[in-house]
Amino acid sequence: MPYIGRMQQNLFDADGGKEALGPGATVLRGFARKRDVELLAAIEAITARAPFRHMVTPGGFEMSVAMTNCGAAGWVTDRTGYRYQARDPQTGAPWPAMPPEFLELAAEAAAAAGFATVVPDACLINRYEPGAKLSLHQDKDEADFAHPIVSVSLGLPATFQFGGAKRGDPVRKITLEHGDVVVWGGPSRLFHHGVLTLKSGEHPLTGCRRFNLTLRKAL
Ligand code: SIN
Ligand code: FE2
Repeated sequence: MPYIGRMQQNLFDADGGKEALGPGATVLRGFARKRDVELLAAIEAITARAPFRHMVTPGGFEMSVAMTNCGAAGWVTDRTGYRYQARDPQTGAPWPAMPPEFLELAAEAAAAAGFATVVPDACLINRYEPGAKLSLHQDKDEADFAHPIVSVSLGLPATFQFGGAKRGDPVRKITLEHGDVVVWGGPSRLFHHGVLTLKSGEHPLTGCRRFNLTLRKAL
């Protein structure tokens, strides 16, 4: 097939292909797009019970990205540190259950990226509004790094940074669009990553927001 560009290709094929991002790191273009409506409905149902909130870092800074969780464990930060916990500190209730469609998507994306099936027990849900960003960090609060991370983008596009094992390693920048899924594990499981300041825009399904699901095996 001749090169016809991503937008055009995606009119014919919801799965826009695979791109290598690093060792053990793959971008699956458009992988979640055909389930976007159900994923967004699931986010809405979760946030009705565990609302988005701006958590505080151990250093005392309020995060610009609003977060919540579902699953057996939820990632939280406050003045005492970063950790996973079974209950939402804001409501005292267990985090809402992981929806089956999240599990299914994680398993399919991990397999498409070449990993054995992953069964996430934690899903961090991030909400970016224009101006929000996530500094370069590692996902390292999980008990076992043998399992890959599956990261799903919905809504407005964002610039994702993907570096290396060391903070100062060179960083690749790629645009993640609605429905794109990034999977990283194996040699890149602890690679640094982040999201540049979200630019304003309007997405037909999410308005002026971007959502990200980060599915992990945390416990
Ligand atoms: C994260 O690293 O938790 C989120 C990444 C993203 O929003 O794409
Ligand atoms: Fe992360």
